Amino acid sequence: MPADFDTIVNLAKKRGFVFQSSEIYGGIRSAYDYGPLGVELLRNVKDQWWRSMVQMRDDIVGIDSAVIQSPKVWVASGHVASFTDPLVECRACHNRHRLDKLEDPNQCPTCGAKDSFTEAREFNLMFRTHMGPVESEDNAVFLRPETAQGIFINFENVRRTARKRLPFGIAQVGKSFRNEITPGQFVFRTREFEQMEMEYFCRPEEADEWFRYWVDERKKWYIDLGMTEENLQFREHEQDELSHYAAATYDVDYRFPWGWDELEGIANRTDFDLRAHAEYSGEDLTYFDPQTNERFYPYVIEPSAGATRTTFAFLIDAYHEEEVRGETRAVLKLDPRLSPIKVAVLPLSKKDELVEVTNRVADRLRSRWMIEVDVTQSIGRRYRRQDEIGTPYAVTVDFDTLDDDQVTIRDRDTMEQDRIPIENLVAYLSDRLPV
Ligand code: GAP
Repeated sequence: MPADFDTIVNLAKKRGFVFQSSEIYGGIRSAYDYGPLGVELLRNVKDQWWRSMVQMRDDIVGIDSAVIQSPKVWVASGHVASFTDPLVECRACHNRHRLDKLEDPNQCPTCGAKDSFTEAREFNLMFRTHMGPVESEDNAVFLRPETAQGIFINFENVRRTARKRLPFGIAQVGKSFRNEITPGQFVFRTREFEQMEMEYFCRPEEADEWFRYWVDERKKWYIDLGMTEENLQFREHEQDELSHYAAATYDVDYRFPWGWDELEGIANRTDFDLRAHAEYSGEDLTYFDPQTNERFYPYVIEPSAGATRTTFAFLIDAYHEEEVRGETRAVLKLDPRLSPIKVAVLPLSKKDELVEVTNRVADRLRSRWMIEVDVTQSIGRRYRRQDEIGTPYAVTVDFDTLDDDQVTIRDRDTMEQDRIPIENLVAYLSDRLPV
């Protein structure tokens, strides 16, 4: 059974994963701030993605492009004309809704009025602002609604400087902005979010094969990082669901507490984007194959995942409640690579001698891993807190440590404890904490 939505949201707020943005001013709808634990979890998700996409491969390189680009980018990409959702307003309560997401298109979900909607109008989701001090149409620019276009417009720069031959990919992680009509479900759909996108350029006749390859690779990534396979579903889009640029798309859906919903889209974008940018910019964005002497537009396979959304799904998936000695234990069984804190160092008491050894142990560990020293409350409560935030190992310094220079290590999942010399601690943890 999926974890209860409210339980996860409460845990996220209570433990400092996610805060409502601008909370002291009453909050701003659909914007969230990541707290000390949330920022680590989000960063670990992004790092694992980068590691699998860029670090572990010869054929993919990364970039970090600007959020604000030439407005012509969004004309060429089709976003100015087509990046819209159908917006209706209820004449009774004046709430606005996305028509294609309504359970009953004739009934307002806010006030219940029937047949009260205005004609649907296509609402463009891009945020507009002005570049420079003058607010004129000539200075209008957009915040990027996807990171992908920053990759396409740098295709030739990257190909030339990284000396890449097909097939090769360009990866990017960063913020995107969409003026969503109905944001919601906590950090699932927000107006500012992070994406992890990779554009894989290949020969057109190999596109189908690479498409299937990337669907498989992405599935492995989620499962390797511990996501429950039964909570994942790969669903091919029907023809009428496809975006304006896509020849084929698979959605990676997760079983959220409210039902299946999208984590990632894997699309065959054909040569749509490179052709469009070549046409609008006048630059030659074809690829010359020195082996076959052919010049052509590469096709693109795009795995495009939401970093914030995926982080939320990992949090939900990891949450477990167990009965331990007649009490309920809440534990985040995160893969240690994703855990915000890898090791907690806990002195049994606040006595100076123990705190001194604790600090010595902590200093040994902190250059390698994110650790937390916690001296407050009873040891039982401190274990419970570490379980709840997903810390895989807790090292306890007790009075015997002062005599034998040994510490106790507790495993989050099994709750079993090992007693080992402090000098073996780094080796012990290195064996158990994969990068
Ligand atoms: N470049 C292709 C593209 O952007 P998309 O399906 O519109 O495709 C990709 O977005 C991913 O970005 C989604 O699968 C989702 O994980 C994430 N995403 C999109 N809109 C989002 C939003 N409003 N809030 C959080 N994540 C979002």
